[in-house]
Formats: sequence, C-alpha cells, structure tokens
Amino acid sequence: MDKLLITGGKTLSGTLRVSGAKNSALKILAGTLLTEEPVSIGNVPHLHDVTTMIELLGSLGADVVLDEKMRVEVTAANLKSVRAPYELVKTMRASFVVLGPLLARFGRAEVSLPGGCAIGARPVDQHLKGLAALGARIDLADGYVRAEMDGRLKGADITFDLVTVGGTENVLMAATLAEGTTRIANAAREPEIVDLANFLNAMGARISGHGTSTLIVEGVERLSGCRFDVMPDRVEAGTYLIAAAATGGRVRLTEAAPDTLDAVIEKLECSGAEIRCDVNSIELDMHGRRPRAVDIRTDVYPGFPTDMQAQYLAMNAIAEGDSRVTETIFENRFMHVQELNRLGAQIELENASTALVHGVARLKAAPVMATDLRASFSLVVAALMAEGTTLIDRIYHIDRGYETIEEKLQLLGADVQRVR
Ligand code: UD1
Repeated sequence: MDKLLITGGKTLSGTLRVSGAKNSALKILAGTLLTEEPVSIGNVPHLHDVTTMIELLGSLGADVVLDEKMRVEVTAANLKSVRAPYELVKTMRASFVVLGPLLARFGRAEVSLPGGCAIGARPVDQHLKGLAALGARIDLADGYVRAEMDGRLKGADITFDLVTVGGTENVLMAATLAEGTTRIANAAREPEIVDLANFLNAMGARISGHGTSTLIVEGVERLSGCRFDVMPDRVEAGTYLIAAAATGGRVRLTEAAPDTLDAVIEKLECSGAEIRCDVNSIELDMHGRRPRAVDIRTDVYPGFPTDMQAQYLAMNAIAEGDSRVTETIFENRFMHVQELNRLGAQIELENASTALVHGVARLKAAPVMATDLRASFSLVVAALMAEGTTLIDRIYHIDRGYETIEEKLQLLGADVQRVR
C-alpha cells in the first residue's frame, strides 16, 4: 500500500495548474449515458475515482476511448446492462448518479446502494424521492435499488427536504428526458451543478435556473452528442491555497475558477494571506507570516465547503490563537482530529460537529493514517509544517481525488516522496 513521506519545514512557493474538477467530471461522465451519440469530454482529471467511473461505464457496455491528454470519448449506443454492481459502487458513492440517466433512457436501472468515504451515514432517500416523483417504481432488495417505469418519466414539482448535491444531479439528469416540465426546489447551487447543467444543455437539454435553488427542466425526447470541457477543481485549488498559506508561502494557481472560491478566499484573507485574482488565476502570498486562527463553519454553496474543512483545521492547528471549526453538512467528519493530535496539535472535540482548536507554535512528525479523501490532505498540510519526517499511510484515499499529488507538491518545493 502506498504511503507518503513528508519532511516538514519547507515554505511552499511556485505556480500550479489546477486540474479539472473531480466532482463535476464524475457526474458528466454519468450523463453521457443519456445519449447513444458519441460525447467528448476534456479536462478530465487523472484520478482513481474517474477510472472507477470509466470502468462502470465500460461494464454497462459503453465504448470509452481516452487520449493521452485525458480527453474521454464515450459512446453509450449499445449498452448490454443497466446494472451498476456493488463491487464498483461500493468504492465510490458518486457512481450512484448513473441511476437517473439509466432510468430515463432505458426505463429501468439497478444500482447498488453506495459506499465511498466513511463520513457519516449518507443516505440516498432524496434521490429516490425525486425519481419516484417523476413516476419511477422503486424497490430496495439485496442491497440494490431497482427502479423502473413504463414509457417516459413524467415531469413533476419536486422539493428536496434538504440540499443534496448528488440528489439534485441524479434527478436533474433524469428530468432532461421526461415528458413535460420538472421544477426542482431547494436544489443544490454548487458550481458543479452549474457545470453539469451546462453540459446537459450542450447535449440539447432545456435547463434553466442552474446556480439558483430552483431548477426548471423542460423535458426533451432525446439528447445528442457534444464536446465539453470540465470546470476547474475548486477543492483542489482551495487545498493548495491553504497548504501554501499554512507554510507562510506563496502560490500562483492557473486555469482556476476564482469566482467559485469566494468563501475560502475570504477566510484565507482573515488568516493573513494577501490574495489577488484574475479571471482564471489566483495568487496567494503569506509573506512568511504565521497564519492567524479563524473560525470556520461549513455550509452548502456559497458557504464554506465541507470538502475544505479538514485542510483549514490543519492550518488553524498551527495558527496564532484559538478557533472553532463547525461541520454542518456531514456527521462524523472529524476523523482527522485524532491523527492531527498525534502530530502535536491541540484540538478538542466539543461535540460531534464542533472542534475547538488551540493553535500551537510547532507540530512534530509522527506516523499517521489517512481516513478519508479530504481529511487525508489535512495530514499532508500538517506534515508540511511539522518538524521531522511524517509517514502518511493509506494514501489511496488521496489518490481518489488529488491528481499527481507528490509532483504538484514537489513543484512547490515540498520534500515529499511516495513509498510502498
Ligand atoms: C457531494 C460531493 C462531496 C461533498 C458534498 C457536499 C461528489 C462526488 N461529492 O457529495 O465531495 O462533500 O457533495 O458538498 O460530488 N443526504 C440525505 N439524503 C440524501 C442525500 C444526502 O440525507 O438522499 C445528506 C447526506 O447524508 C449529507 C448531506 O445530505 O449529510 C449532503 O449530502 P450531498 O450533498 O448529497 O453530498 P454528496 O452528493 O454525497
């Protein structure tokens, strides 16, 4: 099993190109199932989760071709199955979003209940509620969701009980081929939803309201092929901004989408960073300063993203002052706290959703274990600041979501190696 060896104490400095967004690419790849025509997707990040989605499309019978630049062409003309098996879905929750497209196009689908990061219970009741409102008969048996219907799905008014990114995406994709108009209220507003809606519209869908909490979808009979480039990864961008800031360094990110990072940039400025944004680049400079402690409360977009909570918490661990970090999206998303404390951090869990961080002047290397995707990077941030060499085990979690992590960190001057 791969591990990362990181010797701390280096100030990060340099320029990085931001990769395509994992959370957008995965849903767009699932969306290719909505047409029999070839669809060409560019700026797809080279990640384990993307490989899993490509494997899933292949197992359904789609023809997938990749070029050396990770442009992916999918032709879902002759599918041989509408069943997404447990072995693939258990490793990645995002694969559950093939349910909507398969059902809308073929009238039936069978998808294993999902797995993915161990961050709370993460049910799919809202996905199923939305699809049922569109007319699907849904049945749960043997760990699988079986959905079917006769004829086309029917447009409906749907109000989610809570804001769900995956639920919005699943129902949005299904509604594109429904008969009549669907109105999705309390929809997620995340930039990845906007990217998916833009992609679906490029295929001929009629979606409006994306980026607001009400989506309107006028169903069409068929969708066609298109060429589309995935948006920049805001979580990867934010993560490297935090890593550079934590070490007192500076970084310039190119091919980024600064307008998707307002909440994170605002917090980084409170921590003492000087930040300048252009249309598609971001420059951060800490001028060698130690960060100031800043309170964080995660929220749905445009609030502070839960996917950057762990990394910010790690920076707060060595910041000047005390801070409170509150997680409102997922239960059980503080597994990194115990590992950060092994490195000398002083973090106390006030309750299941609040961490109290007492900033310390230095951390000290120790062996630690990655627990979930984003939490793993919090250990990288901590290791970059720690005295000595930290061994981070189980980094397969990181490889699910961060492209060529050790190369990108080395480009910024970090002392990092992958070992087996
Ligand atoms: C997506 C992102 C993930 C991010 C999260 C929140 C992908 C692949 N993953 O995950 O990185 O952290 O959005 O921004 O895009 N919930 C229910 N019932 C449902 C669905 C969700 O109760 O049917 C709950 C979940 O348990 C969770 C909350 O709603 O507490 C938000 O989940 P959701 O927005 O659906 O997250 P994902 O789409 O799984």
